[in-house]
Amino acid sequence: MSRLYKIINIVGARPNLPKIAPLIREMQRRPEFEPILVHTGQHYDENLSKVFFRQMGIPEPQVNLGVGSGTHAEQTAEVLKRVEPILVRHRPDLVLVVGDVNSTIAASLAAVKMGIPVAHVEAGLRSFDRSMPEEINRVLTDSLAEYLFATEDAAVDNLLREGRPRDCIHLVGNVMIDSLLHFLPFAQQSSVGDELGLHNGKGWRTFGVLTLHRPSNVDSMEKLAELLGAIDAIAEKMPIVFPVHPRTQRQLTQSGIKHHPQLLLIPPLGYLDFLCLLSNATLALTDSGGIQEETTALSVACLTLRDNTERPVTVTHGTNTLVGTNPTRIVAAAEQVLQGEGKKGRTPALWDGHAAERIVEVLLQVALGRRNRTHVK
Ligand code: UD1
Repeated sequence: MSRLYKIINIVGARPNLPKIAPLIREMQRRPEFEPILVHTGQHYDENLSKVFFRQMGIPEPQVNLGVGSGTHAEQTAEVLKRVEPILVRHRPDLVLVVGDVNSTIAASLAAVKMGIPVAHVEAGLRSFDRSMPEEINRVLTDSLAEYLFATEDAAVDNLLREGRPRDCIHLVGNVMIDSLLHFLPFAQQSSVGDELGLHNGKGWRTFGVLTLHRPSNVDSMEKLAELLGAIDAIAEKMPIVFPVHPRTQRQLTQSGIKHHPQLLLIPPLGYLDFLCLLSNATLALTDSGGIQEETTALSVACLTLRDNTERPVTVTHGTNTLVGTNPTRIVAAAEQVLQGEGKKGRTPALWDGHAAERIVEVLLQVALGRRNRTHVK
């Protein structure tokens, strides 16, 4: 069969990469699709971008827009401006975006203004906190997209409440968990645990993993110092590995905040090393969205250092607890986990490693329907 459906797939920042990997793999497997990968260049460092492509076997992007860092307006505007001529040149049948970063909303807006339909993978998640840049990106992208692929029931409810038509919404599971399940056996071969002294011939020590990069947690020195004070108290009891995001590193360098020697600050890790650590940790402390989901899939206790989550199933079904940013509460919750009282959780429905297959199947039906309509004319 000739190729029916040309899809431009957009990635920009690190968390987009484990989401796009299974989708590209699945599209490549189907002769009906012509997937084109466009990297906006929002993230450009080796360890925030290139290492993910290599380790996950994501093909080289056909186009890199090279937008780089900037204010929200600058970054969004640069993607809008630079993606339009790519859409004109390739004339795709669909633009597929994932997640909630600035590249997601910018590429969606450029596409719909040209009459190109948009598919949003990870649609409908809502923190109901409009001070988060990602929440604005999510609401706007979902209002533009014609095909909305949701990871959990609450996301479907949010979309319906916002008036999106029922037949645009598809509950398909979680492509991030497709990647996790696919790569977990490879991740277990990583030597990162030995290198950090957390693993030896006898097995794994008890340890925690920390990530922090939300502007609300790291852009204020006082806030970051307060959070790290709580982490220091937990590091008294067990080593905590802290791969530091560049945004957070900049604040730490400027402020010179000191930390406990058992809090191990390291540069951002590649996907396999990070997954290896996360899957063998006793506890994760994080403000990331993706890590709340990954710990739920791995049955690792997760303390989320935020007051809200756009991924409520990780709390109702999974291992996630929202502890906010109060140091006393964070330390008490970590102690509970160390005493074996962390949440065990269960895996949400459809987080089974087959979400990308379901998405591509829906898109295939769209393509076939379109071809049939063309033939009838
Ligand atoms: C972005 C996303 C966020 C996602 C996060 C994952 C938005 C609004 N935010 O936030 O949702 O959770 O990515 O990392 O899109 N920098 C580098 N190297 C890079 C990229 C950035 O050093 O390759 C530094 C720059 O100093 C930059 C800062 O990190 O100013 C922040 O990068 P940016 O892309 O603006 O936002 P993130 O905080 O990474």
